[in-house]
Amino acid sequence: MERYLVLPGPFVSICGGLRDSNLVNRCLFFGKIISREALFMARKTLPFTHSQLESILQKYPTPFHIYDEHSIRQNVRKLLAAFSWAPSFKEYFAVKATPNPSILKLLREEGTGADCSSLAELVLAEAAGIKGENIMFTSNDTPAEEFKKAAELGAIINLDDISHIAYLEKHVGIPDIISFRYNPGPLLKGGNTIIGYPEEAKYGLTKPQVFEAYRTMQQKGVKRFGIHTMVISNELNPQSFVDTANMMFDLILELHKELGITFEFVNLGGGIGIPYRTEQEAVDLEFVGQEIKKAYDAKIAANGLHPLRIALESGRMITGPYGYLVTTVLHKKEIYKNYVGLDACMANLMRPALYGSYHHITVIGKENAPLDHIYDVTGSLCENNDKFAIDRELPVIDAGDVLVIHDTGAHGHAMGFNYNGKLRSAELLLKPDGKVELIRRAETLEDYFATLDVSTCGLSLAAAAKTEDQ
Ligand SMILES: Cc1ncc(COP(=O)(O)O)c(C=O)c1O
Repeated sequence: MERYLVLPGPFVSICGGLRDSNLVNRCLFFGKIISREALFMARKTLPFTHSQLESILQKYPTPFHIYDEHSIRQNVRKLLAAFSWAPSFKEYFAVKATPNPSILKLLREEGTGADCSSLAELVLAEAAGIKGENIMFTSNDTPAEEFKKAAELGAIINLDDISHIAYLEKHVGIPDIISFRYNPGPLLKGGNTIIGYPEEAKYGLTKPQVFEAYRTMQQKGVKRFGIHTMVISNELNPQSFVDTANMMFDLILELHKELGITFEFVNLGGGIGIPYRTEQEAVDLEFVGQEIKKAYDAKIAANGLHPLRIALESGRMITGPYGYLVTTVLHKKEIYKNYVGLDACMANLMRPALYGSYHHITVIGKENAPLDHIYDVTGSLCENNDKFAIDRELPVIDAGDVLVIHDTGAHGHAMGFNYNGKLRSAELLLKPDGKVELIRRAETLEDYFATLDVSTCGLSLAAAAKTEDQ
């Protein structure tokens, strides 16, 4: 049933108490009907003031991603504290989430290692000073040169398939320490849209293969073992992580009983979700840490398998909430729907188009304005799914307005691409003292044309690009 509240503008704030009430679900605001959620929508905060942002914009043209160093550091400390009980707990930051050496360096200073999945990510970890077994290499469909680089760095290699044992042996040799990625398949009920159902996921070894793989490695003389899984992604239910730990502890017990292996570590993967929507809650890390401790005590310690290092490879929860895509409105368009066109596009942030993901949007200077307009917020790609938001309730937006798209710190810039010749944006780091550092410059046309052999097409693309860039 529709229940309306008629509100003259000035009284909006005193009606905040009705946000959770079922008495009213529509509001008539200055003659327009808007949803209660829109009227009372909780805000997301920004790490900079308007005047700080203004001076950043004078120096750096939009679009750009900016990361808040102070909050990233605080956040990773929270994760490490939640597992301070665990023997030699390790967070291997998932480089794929924010593959920038400046970010990796500051995380290294906080004590994290790196989870790498490719040659480039291994090189980035190395550039950030992350070395040896502080790197875990979890790849799939891996080329030989990537295994070679991982071995050269002394990284822990985590094999994705039983057939990779022979491949690794042929190209690199058998390492001192080995890990396998377990895919529980139908043994695990559930799954989520990003990672999918385990039995439909291409990753990891089946349970019988896991036993065979460790037996083979024992026969090849390996003495040091770890085990890995990654079965959830962007999950907000804290119990899921406890369930994963229980599943892995049970498997470790079975492997110990059958093969006599005492594992050095278990890596429970990444997948800790973040509250992209204002009404969502962050995962209670303290709860997760303590519940996993209970399972550890009951299953690992009680069976004489202590110490077993617990490892995670979170990406999103470390940097995700502390990155912001700052962009300017270029155009407004009113046809069958109302559109706001930005200077950023899906090439700068693919998640909404790829997964239909929600990213909160703040219109700078209009934080207190009523959300009484409905827009599709678009980029300029020739793809109709190049939309950051669809039917989003926002304040009135004008060309020239600056928008901040929230929670872009992980799997944001990282997933960028160059379709339509769009150039990837700069990345900035907001330092704890308020200064801003350019940690990746924006691409230029020259970068875009750098892989073309201009001599064969008779065009001076590089020269044209140079002129454009000036
Ligand atoms: C193997 C592996 N580890 C870790 C991660 C990081 O996941 P998240 O950023 O959700 O924590 C991913 C994400 O794709 C992954 O594939």
